[in-house]
Amino acid sequence: HTRLLVKEEHVTTTSTTSPQVKPLTIIYGSQTGNAESVAEEAADIARNHGLTPQVQDMDDVDLHQLCKAERLLVVTSTYGEGEMPDNAQALWDCISADDAPRFDNTFFSVLALGDTNYDDFCLAGIQWDERLAALGGTRIANRVDCDVAYESAAHEWIAEALPTIAQKGSRGDIEVMPANAPSANKKAKPKYTRDNPFEAQLLKKYTLNNPSSGKETCHYELSLLDSGESYDAGDAINLLPTNRPELVDELISLLGARKEQHEQYDGHTQELQKIFTEDLEIRIPSKEFITEVAARSGDQEFIAKLEESTQALNDFVWGLDSIDLLKRYAPNSFTASDFIRLAKPLAPRAYSISSSIKHHPNEVHLTIASVRYEQAGRVHNGVCSTFLADLCESGSKIKCYFAPNKHFSVPQDPTSPIIMIGPGTGIAPFRGFLEERLSTQATGENWLFFGDRTKANDFLYQQELEDMQQQGLLTRLDLAFSRDQQEKIYVQDKMQEQGALLFEWLERGAYIYVCGDAFRMAKDVDKALHQIIEKQGNLSPDQTQEYIANLKKQKRYVRDVY
Ligand code: 2AM
Repeated sequence: HTRLLVKEEHVTTTSTTSPQVKPLTIIYGSQTGNAESVAEEAADIARNHGLTPQVQDMDDVDLHQLCKAERLLVVTSTYGEGEMPDNAQALWDCISADDAPRFDNTFFSVLALGDTNYDDFCLAGIQWDERLAALGGTRIANRVDCDVAYESAAHEWIAEALPTIAQKGSRGDIEVMPANAPSANKKAKPKYTRDNPFEAQLLKKYTLNNPSSGKETCHYELSLLDSGESYDAGDAINLLPTNRPELVDELISLLGARKEQHEQYDGHTQELQKIFTEDLEIRIPSKEFITEVAARSGDQEFIAKLEESTQALNDFVWGLDSIDLLKRYAPNSFTASDFIRLAKPLAPRAYSISSSIKHHPNEVHLTIASVRYEQAGRVHNGVCSTFLADLCESGSKIKCYFAPNKHFSVPQDPTSPIIMIGPGTGIAPFRGFLEERLSTQATGENWLFFGDRTKANDFLYQQELEDMQQQGLLTRLDLAFSRDQQEKIYVQDKMQEQGALLFEWLERGAYIYVCGDAFRMAKDVDKALHQIIEKQGNLSPDQTQEYIANLKKQKRYVRDVY
């Protein structure tokens, strides 16, 4: 019966020369592209519901147009500690202001992307949801808050929100739709996904630091041969690691189980060893697991944290992995199936690509710091970084799929100057940018700020960078080695030193890119940029804000920070 109805509707629409359209506005706030890809996916499915979707970057949205939308879906991630993504900030400032227009005629729903390991889980999405309702909007489907592995929750939200919103509002104005108009938003679907990854062969790997360095940063080269896929400089790639065999064994024995035993996971009965090696996050404890360990621990201090906050709980167990938690607080009180129920799926890890495919045909290069630290009397190894460093060698096959990062790319105009700030592994995409500009013979000037601990041990890609400088490709290379002298010198100090020149570049239309640590570096660099612009431009704090908001809007101040 339903099918018939749909058919009838179809007949009516196609029988008129100018079909009626039901517009649907989908806006996204995205830092790394995940929210954007969910928005695109929702748009694809919306067409099946007779809707005419339009996907918009929040930075391109005019609030006074937006409030006229009858059907609105908002997809936003939360960045850093409860902050809006860079492309959402300006619109958020407008909509959260006292003079924001009302949304009385708008039906809406919000999808929030986040990470449960943070206290302000999905805060940006929560704020959008509350604000739209406060301004008179009608929520047609409850907000869904997604954890890092967002795909299935996002699909549920799409499945719930789209049919509901399609029923709401008027038919929309009669608009003449050009026949078979190619949608501006339509992009080719990625060929490889989490469920269908490409197996890339590892061609080469080497360490970039000297052995006497306190750090281990590795360079990896993967082959894309036979993948039929490509990428743009500045994109990221998701890798699917496996867990270390010794950790799998230890955890299985702590749970009083056997490797060969079969357990239910994801609707299938599978061998425990496989589940723990390939499917579950066995190292980083989930919030649910920490909570359950606390509850079963009998430790009053730990239990008290349950009442306090996620942050307090996280601080209490800082640096401990699932094995430490079991050993220390709850020996013999969890079974393998308890663990499976509480653990998160093993999430793909996204890394910024450090090459240009034009310079290295059929290859993806990566620059990854191995995470290793001592805690609770054991060395802890980061899941994916040490999967690559310790478990993979030349010839190994690595499961991966691309994570495009549309706005983090070299300017379209080959003559535009660019300023790149990338200490530590933040250098990665900028090696790619420089190779890209070399291959395309772009004439724009290139300025790199790089920093790390010591010049002797940690000057990543020193030879390549110095060669680029010699060739004139790298116009300026400013270095901040933090531990080569008594006082710390960081990239932002180098920026301050060159404040006048930096502002001059910006005034000439330079793009400024930041990659690396989100929590300290990116914030300090942002602060330095504000100070430089305020001083050099002789601007008030408000004018400086406006100057920077404008740079962001033009995608001339973009960040890839983690
Ligand atoms: P540090 O470890 O000596 O303090 C790459 O990790 C480089 O970034 C290192 O030189 C590191 O210095 C530096 N770094 C640490 N905190 C930073 C911050 N807030 N801003 C900029 N660089 C920072």
